[in-house]
Amino acid sequence: MKGIILAGGAGTRLHPITKVTSKQLLPVYNKPMIFYPLETLLKAGITDILIIIAPENAGDFVRLLGSGKEFGAKFTYEVQEKPEGLAQAFIIGASFIGNDSVAMILGDNLFEDDFSEAVKNFKSGASIFLKDVPDPQRFGIAEIDADLNVLSVEEKPKIPKSKYAITGLYMYDNTVVEKAKNITPSARGELEITGLHDMYLKEGNLNAVILKGKWLDTGTFESLHEASCFAREKALKQSHLQVTEMRIKERLV
Ligand code: DAU
Repeated sequence: MKGIILAGGAGTRLHPITKVTSKQLLPVYNKPMIFYPLETLLKAGITDILIIIAPENAGDFVRLLGSGKEFGAKFTYEVQEKPEGLAQAFIIGASFIGNDSVAMILGDNLFEDDFSEAVKNFKSGASIFLKDVPDPQRFGIAEIDADLNVLSVEEKPKIPKSKYAITGLYMYDNTVVEKAKNITPSARGELEITGLHDMYLKEGNLNAVILKGKWLDTGTFESLHEASCFAREKALKQSHLQVTEMRIKERLV
């Protein structure tokens, strides 16, 4: 399975901090934001990755991430001229995807879950990952039954049918490229990812998984701050753990 990190967009909701840089380059505790979705893909075993960026800061992404060698991966870059919707990624990325299946992650989403099993077990159709949220009007929403069958999907509904947000990591079979070409732009002029999910749903090929760990979309000042606090907590726990392991080893030697 190949991977796409979608890291374009205007980031206007975070002005003035995104006025001269990209949202996905902002620090989240001790790393640039894009490192988190990148690490999620790498941990899942995906190393052939297309990074889609806006023209304004394209050079900064290349300087930061390079060829991918440093990460044990291979990076390809494409520019999205205008933020015309998440599903446009599959049109821009058509030749990169080739005949493979693909996982796309949003450059401003932070996940605690490990997706390696989901990648290993993926066969066909589309997989979406859901998280129970208190503010469902802000997200794409999936209505599900007790057996996790998806009944409907809606983009930022005024009256949500459920509290399950469709988070920003998606896995698709190769038909995603043709499907993306057949989406008509929404009222706000975007190729909506929800349109794509609706196509898979109508075919009976949309699978939902509920996430266990924390999920953060860093699209607002509040969630950006929360993400930094969460990343700090995780990093400190990790370094305490390493120190403890070192001490145990020293005692054993
Ligand atoms: O975070 C999960 C949510 O992401 C989903 O629940 C929604 O269904 C999905 O539409 C999306 O909603 P957002 O309002 O968060 O989308 P936003 O416009 O903020 O874009 C998400 C990321 O993708 C952001 O890092 C910018 C980037 N982007 C966005 C668009 C529209 C692009 O690179 N190109 C684009 O054309």
